[in-house]
Amino acid sequence: MLDAIGARFRTEFGGAPFRRFFAPGRINLLGAHLDYNGGDVLPMAVDRGIYLAIRARDDGRIRLRSVDQPQAIDVAAADVGERTRPELAWAGYPLGVWHGFQQQLGLSAGFDAVYAGDLPMASGLSSSAAIEVVTAIALDALHQTRLERQQIALLAHRAETGFVGVRCGIMDQFASALGRAGQVLLLHCAGPRWEHVPFDPAACEVLVLDTKKPRHLAKSGFNERVAQCATAHEILRTHARDLPHLALYDENDLATARSAMDPVSLRRARHVVTEMARTRAGAVALRRHDYEALGKKLSESHRSTAVDYEVSCDELDVITAAACACEGVFGARLTGAGFGGCAIALVRPGAAELVQQAVGAAFRQRFGVDAGFDLLRSGPGPGEIF
Ligand code: GLA
Repeated sequence: MLDAIGARFRTEFGGAPFRRFFAPGRINLLGAHLDYNGGDVLPMAVDRGIYLAIRARDDGRIRLRSVDQPQAIDVAAADVGERTRPELAWAGYPLGVWHGFQQQLGLSAGFDAVYAGDLPMASGLSSSAAIEVVTAIALDALHQTRLERQQIALLAHRAETGFVGVRCGIMDQFASALGRAGQVLLLHCAGPRWEHVPFDPAACEVLVLDTKKPRHLAKSGFNERVAQCATAHEILRTHARDLPHLALYDENDLATARSAMDPVSLRRARHVVTEMARTRAGAVALRRHDYEALGKKLSESHRSTAVDYEVSCDELDVITAAACACEGVFGARLTGAGFGGCAIALVRPGAAELVQQAVGAAFRQRFGVDAGFDLLRSGPGPGEIF
């Protein structure tokens, strides 16, 4: 990966010195769609992510290349604007981060950059957050702005919500910016506050199950869920209690407000409220290294995202059910926003190969497609590569 970005950088931008950075992608153990509802989430940075070769420029030009994506972008700072445009494609993420540095820190210098990733793109492992975070730590290092990791995460998050226009929560950018090897991030999104909880690789491994189903509806479906949760919250505030976030309600509140709730609001709220309880129970299990109990919560979470939140699909339901039927699997669920992309299974070390064979065969038989499999490890947070 490093050789590939280095070679491409020299070909595109010449041989003067450049610097290299990395930011991880993430899986999320529990807390599906809780971040923008003020709930708790349990993401873990993985040993895959986005690599960047970069050199600052004195003028305001920004030139962006990707080893994996065809679009090459050359823009003048004055033309970056306030929002991305369709023709900018993936480059909207780094440009959004640059825009944040310009707005908040007065940055005017441009840069030349080449990106490459070893995460499947747009599949629920947060390649976009990793692009944002790697750009932010690189600009921070090049211009010595000395931002803290939390500020990096918030700047990256604003690039996605403000510039790109996805109304996502803070989980992905925090997971990437605050990732630590061997640790899961327990992030209380309402604060935000966080702590790191150890994950024991000798007791449990994370197998990614890639359905290869593109997430075409992810952006519109995602923003629709955000709006539906706002509606449900409003009903609960009026008919149960006035709490600042949907994730803070409980099942008694749902019972109190039930007659006022339309069926969609009720289902969305029920997922959020029960997922919050599952995430808390999962964090307790994780601290005890009880991967059986943690795995059960993942499988329950999948059912709730499928039935009440309606962000699963046949491919994700089949692949998680096939995994759960295997010996040595603690539990499985979709990861990321859903609507396609990847699921994760927690597996006993040594079991992954047989799981892969059985799940691969079941998936091929049903859909005629070869699913992808990848054993991911917890990985370090972002940083410069020397
Ligand atoms: C996407 C969003 C996150 C989060 C998840 C669902 O990954 O970017 O903010 O909402 O979906 O948990």
